[in-house]
Amino acid sequence: MKILGFVGSMRKNRNTYQVVKSCLDAAEASDKNVETEIVYVADLKIEPCKACYELCSVKPYVCVVKDDLQKVLEKMVEADAIVLGCPRYFLIPSKMTAFMERLACLSFFTEMNHPEARHPLEDKPCGLIAVSGGADVMPVLKHLMNFALCLRMKVITLKAYPYFGVGGEGDITKDEDLKPLENAKILGQKLVETIKTKNY
Ligand SMILES: Cc1cc2nc3c(=O)[nH]c(=O)nc-3n(C[C@H](O)[C@H](O)[C@H](O)COP(=O)(O)O)c2cc1C
Repeated sequence: MKILGFVGSMRKNRNTYQVVKSCLDAAEASDKNVETEIVYVADLKIEPCKACYELCSVKPYVCVVKDDLQKVLEKMVEADAIVLGCPRYFLIPSKMTAFMERLACLSFFTEMNHPEARHPLEDKPCGLIAVSGGADVMPVLKHLMNFALCLRMKVITLKAYPYFGVGGEGDITKDEDLKPLENAKILGQKLVETIKTKNY
């Protein structure tokens, strides 16, 4: 079982990474067959969407812009589950916006011309994580949720607030309200359980 985690922060090894890592470590600890990988969106060469519709609306999951998008999509397709971690930068980092725009536009093939076709990420379990310097993480989580649903993935919900993902505000190690590191572990375990049982 492979779980692929994305870190949308422009900084390495900081809050977003730590919460994503906590989730992936818990997933690995819960089953010896789980392997994980972290991808920094900042390391990817991803251009903004050109809104040309040229290839993406007529051919399945290809884009005229040649950069790291295809490689990332292949990794996502191969993975059994995805974790999207993102900090609040007013809303989200511009690099993360480019990443999301480009992947979301690949859905134009199904949405505009082939509603019967199956999206390559359809039904893939997806965990959401958002951190901030102290402001509400809910707008970031809602944004990530829209994206995940647009890609027809299954967003894994939690019993603890904010329910459709893990949030962390301010110093994540001291956030006693949202308990990001603790809830990230629960999310990791739930992702593994979901992959095994396909119960979503
Ligand atoms: C350009 C930029 C904009 C930010 N905007 C906000 C914001 O609107 N609200 C907030 O609470 N924190 C904001 N932050 C703080 C980050 O959300 C916070 O430092 C977070 O921990 C960054 O994630 P990282 O530790 O993984 O890099 C901003 C940071 C940057 C660099």
